[in-house]
Amino acid sequence: MAKVRKAVLPVAGLGTRMLPATRVLPKEMLPVVDKPIVQYAIEEARAAGIEEVILVTGRGKTLIEDHFDRAVELFETLARRGRTAELEALLGQTPQPGELVYTRQQEPKGLGHAVWCARHLVGREPFAVMLVDDLIDAPAPCLAQMLEVHRRTEGNVVAVMEVPADQTARYGIVAPGADDGRVVEVAGLVEKPRPEVAPSRLAVIGRYVLMPEIMDELARHEVGAGGEIQLTDAMARLIGRQPFHGLRFEGRRFDCGDKLGYLEAIVALAAGRPDVGPAFRALLARYR
Ligand code: UTP
Repeated sequence: MAKVRKAVLPVAGLGTRMLPATRVLPKEMLPVVDKPIVQYAIEEARAAGIEEVILVTGRGKTLIEDHFDRAVELFETLARRGRTAELEALLGQTPQPGELVYTRQQEPKGLGHAVWCARHLVGREPFAVMLVDDLIDAPAPCLAQMLEVHRRTEGNVVAVMEVPADQTARYGIVAPGADDGRVVEVAGLVEKPRPEVAPSRLAVIGRYVLMPEIMDELARHEVGAGGEIQLTDAMARLIGRQPFHGLRFEGRRFDCGDKLGYLEAIVALAAGRPDVGPAFRALLARYR
């Protein structure tokens, strides 16, 4: 089985749930404590052994490219002022030349379409898809946990988590097959079902390891829920033809595309940080 070397990060969405912050600023650049959301996903990808990250961008997203570039004036100033620790941290976070590549989704036609826009850069090999909005704080990188399952099952793997019954209509929901309590066979997938018709409460969240055949399904450009080309519909067509599993990953997931989820991510991560954590927890106590 070919090694998973590439991750596609679709960042072409408009981020309307975070308006007015996202009128100009890409939502992926909103900070959680002191790092933009997109940087958490790229660090997770690197920690999982991904060699090439493909960002599918859109108009107004060039700040993301600038963020990961060498900021020559800033780096020189830090060096001159002897702030070597900060400089080294920034250099370590800056991807190597060729490690980050960009392509554009020219129209926001849906997540499935965004992934398809990366088809030539991905080629015919298994690859990962990461939705940056889903920030995952985990003991071992969520994507690394999934790659371990992929190596064993030699097929598609999605990250899943139980959601309350009244939230099924927000997610792709798994119809479960054999289940060992951690890895569940995906027997079916339904995009955004109402609670009465949902096959389970197991929701797919924004981490996927996909076989190259997904691109053939996406190439059909079939329009699904919400008038968008859905990744879930294309994945559903691979079930039964290829191994397909869900992993109940270890870790906490925050939906940073949503105001409350974003605020929770800031509180949880800031409270757990060794530098600002103690003072931040004391400060929070004043807002009970
Ligand atoms: P969302 O459903 O969160 O949509 O997309 P959105 O446009 O980003 O945000 P809201 O709902 O208006 O607030 C899920 C993921 O798919 C990407 C988004 O960037 C996000 O990472 N996406 C979605 C695209 O890249 N292109 C699309 O056409 C749609």
